[in-house]
Amino acid sequence: MTESATDPVYVTDKLIAEDIDAYLVQHEHKTMLRFITCGSVDDGKSTLIGRLLYDSKMIFEDQLDALASDSKKVGTQGQEIDFALLVDGLAAEREQGITIDVAYRFFNTEKRKFIVADCPGHEQYTRNMITGASTADLAVILIDARKGVLVQTRRHSFLCHQIGIKNIVLAVNKMDLVDYSQEVFDKILADYTEFAASIGIESFTAMPISGFKGDNITTLSTNTPWYTGPTLVEHLETVEVLSSVDAEKPFRLPVQWVNRPNLDFRGFSGLIATGSVKPGDKVRVLPSGKTSTVTRIVTFDGDLDEAVAGQSVTVCFADEIDCSRGSVISIADNPPQSADQFEATLVWMADEAMIPGRAYWLKLGTQLVSATVAEPKYEVNVNTMEHLAAKTLELNAIGVAEVTTDKQIVFEPYGDNRSLGGFILIDKMTNATVAGGMLNFSLRRSQNVHWQALDIGRAQHAGLKNQKPAVLWFTGLSGSGKSTIANMVEKKLHRMNRHTFLLDGDNVRHGLNKDLGFTEADRIENIRRVGEVSKLMADAGLIVITAFISPFKADRDMVRSMLPEGEFIEVFIDTPLKVAEARDVKGLYKKARSGELKNFTGIDSPYEAPRDPEIRIDTTVVSPEEAASLIVDKLLGDA
Ligand code: ADX
Repeated sequence: MTESATDPVYVTDKLIAEDIDAYLVQHEHKTMLRFITCGSVDDGKSTLIGRLLYDSKMIFEDQLDALASDSKKVGTQGQEIDFALLVDGLAAEREQGITIDVAYRFFNTEKRKFIVADCPGHEQYTRNMITGASTADLAVILIDARKGVLVQTRRHSFLCHQIGIKNIVLAVNKMDLVDYSQEVFDKILADYTEFAASIGIESFTAMPISGFKGDNITTLSTNTPWYTGPTLVEHLETVEVLSSVDAEKPFRLPVQWVNRPNLDFRGFSGLIATGSVKPGDKVRVLPSGKTSTVTRIVTFDGDLDEAVAGQSVTVCFADEIDCSRGSVISIADNPPQSADQFEATLVWMADEAMIPGRAYWLKLGTQLVSATVAEPKYEVNVNTMEHLAAKTLELNAIGVAEVTTDKQIVFEPYGDNRSLGGFILIDKMTNATVAGGMLNFSLRRSQNVHWQALDIGRAQHAGLKNQKPAVLWFTGLSGSGKSTIANMVEKKLHRMNRHTFLLDGDNVRHGLNKDLGFTEADRIENIRRVGEVSKLMADAGLIVITAFISPFKADRDMVRSMLPEGEFIEVFIDTPLKVAEARDVKGLYKKARSGELKNFTGIDSPYEAPRDPEIRIDTTVVSPEEAASLIVDKLLGDA
């Protein structure tokens, strides 16, 4: 490529030669753009990165030594470099580095400094890609013009979007191999536009390039006269960087440490995550919520009149208020929220799968708390964007789950603030980082319920009633005698000053469950609700008696599993169908036999008898009165 007076690299060289001071000043004030390149290996990532480094002549000798085996062929900055050799070197280095992490490359142009994260493309390196993307302002999604939108294109776009990268460049590469066809480009653009909209990408910039030939990289190519947009470098130079976006947001400073060299000085140090601060600003410290006024902003180079996002500073307050490592200093009238339950998106990064319910360390900025992750709501198939049911998250899996912390943490949804919404999970035993996560939102469950559950729990409730809670779960055919016996049991217990409550099928179906019928699904829901209510009542310290057919074993077992060991007592009222049908107290069997009543248990709907109930009552040999005594004895004998 030939240099011209407008070539940014050329202008820089000139400035260095003519006015080194001016160059240095300009350099110092250059903004930094971090970006990531994605695409499958064959899409030409290494070639593109090689091209950017090559054209910006940011290849220094030491880098080259590492990149190329034959250093003699390679020049230093400003000299001719064998482009093909450079690309080979880059590719080889990345291949070697593949399992370690992400390769970061540096280069700069007249206007900006750049860090590009070169990440491996395969699905098994999803975590590497996430690492590279987590600090990026922009993503270049490379597409091979001959192949169009591939699975990897979709996966990488989805991940970049999830990570919160707002600037997406769709670089349709290898245009030289499709004769710079506008038709090919337009087709890919149309395909990608449709896909991008489907995953919520609102806008992106598409450009036809050739990393190999250099088309539309630093200069507009004459091969694509139909393309009127910017060159890739031009775009990279002008796109808004995160730090300037962050500077516009409300002020937040996560406190890294308290600076107290002597009794006269007390300052709070950290990196400003978002916004700006000036002496005189009213600030609030979280989680305590105390307010004060900023008196000084101290740095190594003296006090500042203002500090913005991305700067490390020490701030001093007018008042001695509580503030320590992990606190967040914010603008007083617009503080972030605090919460202890969240919905989060997790990227699992450890070989050992996630264990729901296990306690991990959760590190969010400077805050460190203990946290548990519930069973995932779903896992995302990162190739198809489908939501899959999942019990855990394996290495490289991405899923959504509820996260509960043992203390309130100061946070903002990741979409609003990466610093206060992004976290990592750390294994408490090995200290290894096992996951990266993004807080989506807090769950507005009442904190009070949480606290009361700890202070006044089931033990206290039962203690006051001087009894052990239990659920006597009656099951059996319609007309087997469940309600009759359950009634007698309750009366006996009541006479013995026990606090009880009887939930009966016919009655509950008039109220709580009046929307349910007798299909299999409705019966399952009927039992689920009754199970939940029974559990609450047992938590309240009651002896609960339920009389429902509850024909399915799985549902009865589910209720059993909701209660502490030993509290669920299954009472099988064993009355043969023949006997129940002969009694036919409500005339329902007759109706069922005549076909007037559908899905009747025992007739055209199944009943799965318990195999191993705690109590079995054979009503053909035991009277209701005797049965009630047996049940009460068994209950209180166990208590
Ligand atoms: S369950 O199967 O969902 O546990 P549940 O105990 O609530 O049933 O209700 C059963 C009562 O509903 C019976 O005692 C009977 O009075 C009435 N019933 C009405 N239709 C049916 C039916 N198709 N099958 C069983 N019971 C029915």
